[in-house]
Amino acid sequence: MDMSRVADQGLVLLGCGKMGSAMLAGWLEHGLPAASVWVIDPNPSDWLRAQGVNINTPLPEKPAVVLVAVKPQMMGEALPAIRALGGGGTLFISVAAGTSIATFERVLGAGTPIIRAMPNTPAAIRQGITALIGNAGTSGSDMTLAEDLLSAIGDTVRLQDEAQMDAVTGLSGSGPAYVFHLIETLAAAGEAQGLPHDLAMRLAKATVAGAGALAMASEEDPSQLRINVTSPNGTTQAALEVLMHEQEGFPNLLHRAVKAATDRSKELSGG
Ligand SMILES: NC(=O)c1ccc[n+]([C@@H]2O[C@H](COP(=O)([O-])OP(=O)(O)OC[C@H]3O[C@@H](n4cnc5c(N)ncnc54)[C@H](OP(=O)(O)O)[C@@H]3O)[C@@H](O)[C@H]2O)c1
Repeated sequence: MDMSRVADQGLVLLGCGKMGSAMLAGWLEHGLPAASVWVIDPNPSDWLRAQGVNINTPLPEKPAVVLVAVKPQMMGEALPAIRALGGGGTLFISVAAGTSIATFERVLGAGTPIIRAMPNTPAAIRQGITALIGNAGTSGSDMTLAEDLLSAIGDTVRLQDEAQMDAVTGLSGSGPAYVFHLIETLAAAGEAQGLPHDLAMRLAKATVAGAGALAMASEEDPSQLRINVTSPNGTTQAALEVLMHEQEGFPNLLHRAVKAATDRSKELSGG
């Protein structure tokens, strides 16, 4: 992570809640000096106050980056604090779900470099994945800087087009909740087959975490990993015949779920 541009010119963090503090913790750990960070937040947490960063003080004139991490519904109220930094050399990065690049361009000026990013909740333990897309004003080095900053909370991917953001929201943005529900229902199904609740939950959590880690670590794709553990006429095959059923199994169910989230994301962002 090359933070020298940010360390020299400063970074403004607008909104330091769950997402903002997860990122800030990562940057400080990677050596960004606390004195290079300016946070704007109406109710700074005890953790934030203990970090030695500038909190609710006047901002530097030309920070390298402004990172926007307020809730979308607070955006109207929060943006005036940073409007004056638009249109110059400052790169704006937003992690707010559903707020379009055009919205920021209207407030900050179309020439302002703006990168919209969509992280997800495993960011809290640095295992998130964040999708990024920049406007016409962003350079290659802006994009690299944004990736460096967001790598503090996990992996990053670049999008080709902002329109992909709705489907990304439906897949990885909302996806952790689908997996939490998979864990709940897998445990409940084990209970229905006679296991005590705590044991079933422990088995379900470890199975999802272990299979996820194996899928990430393996060179084989998930389909091959599935085939590897499915012996003909065995127990796994019996379950997969239910789960892989085209209409009643995962394929149709997840298709509908991700479509519902994507459609809702389009509605919320007015697209
Ligand atoms: N959490 C996720 O997994 C996730 C995933 C993808 C995207 N995001 C996006 O990340 C953004 C932040 O989410 P979050 O979960 O971190 O929310 P959060 O914990 O509520 O953090 C938002 C922070 O902004 C502060 N704030 C409110 N009004 C402000 C203002 N006018 N100026 C400056 N700061 C202000 C809030 O203070 P108060 O608490 O005092 O109001 C709070 O500390 C959202 O836009 C969300 O869409 C989050």
